[in-house]
Amino acid sequence: MFDIRKFTESSAIYRSAPNLVIYQDEMPSTSDRAKEMVASGSQSGTLVIADFQTAGRGRGGKSWQAEPGESLLFSLILDPDINPALWYRFSLAVGVAIADALANFSFQKDVNIGLKWPNDVHMNGKKVAGILTEIVADKIIIGIGMNISGQALLKTATSLTDLGLASDLSRETILEKLIQSIFRWSSLCDEQYGIVIAKYEKYCVLEGKRIVMTSAGKQVTGMVTGYNEDGFLIIEEDGATFTYSEGRDITVVDG
Ligand code: BTN
Repeated sequence: MFDIRKFTESSAIYRSAPNLVIYQDEMPSTSDRAKEMVASGSQSGTLVIADFQTAGRGRGGKSWQAEPGESLLFSLILDPDINPALWYRFSLAVGVAIADALANFSFQKDVNIGLKWPNDVHMNGKKVAGILTEIVADKIIIGIGMNISGQALLKTATSLTDLGLASDLSRETILEKLIQSIFRWSSLCDEQYGIVIAKYEKYCVLEGKRIVMTSAGKQVTGMVTGYNEDGFLIIEEDGATFTYSEGRDITVVDG
């Protein structure tokens, strides 16, 4: 179970502001709680953590389910100091932040870290973390679910324990490293966004693959040829090139 006191006492970020961290063993959804907190005036940096969610939400209106104690489930409220027209950039930046944090603490292990557009975090080809970024009033809520254990039998998901990465680090330390990385990468969403995209390209797993996805309610099939400077997906279909700012249910069909 997550130890809130251990977290705040050892955190470089929250040691001096423990009142910004809200933890409950169980709540419907940390992102829903964060939304309520935005409505009641909570400040940037507020972090909501749960050990179990009864109504966890994923991208595209899907549910996000995790057994008690098997995941890190948290939502961070941010108040970005950049033009709101650029806030969509946080989706990729947070993906890079999580991938980069994982790369830093698994550098001695033979694991392959990837980002499946836009920001599913994969390790050795299976999903280890999902990210839900939502704009609520004048804040961004970044909701993250990371599998710490318990996915060993699944074909499409994995966990840090399955990969031998969780034994050296407590979940409090892992969370601190993730949050530090989110602050670092999300500060690069204005003029320095090129740095985010360059890093994103190192982790992306779809380039050169033929995919099927749903975008704006339509099924799209084509070859991923890359990402533009905004991080939008470039797909070649029947000799023509199209750019997509959103897409879901992406499946690699070959290549
Ligand atoms: C996805 O891959 O679809 C995104 C999943 C995001 C899940 C996290 S768990 C913590 C936070 N609270 C929620 O209800 N959702 C996010």
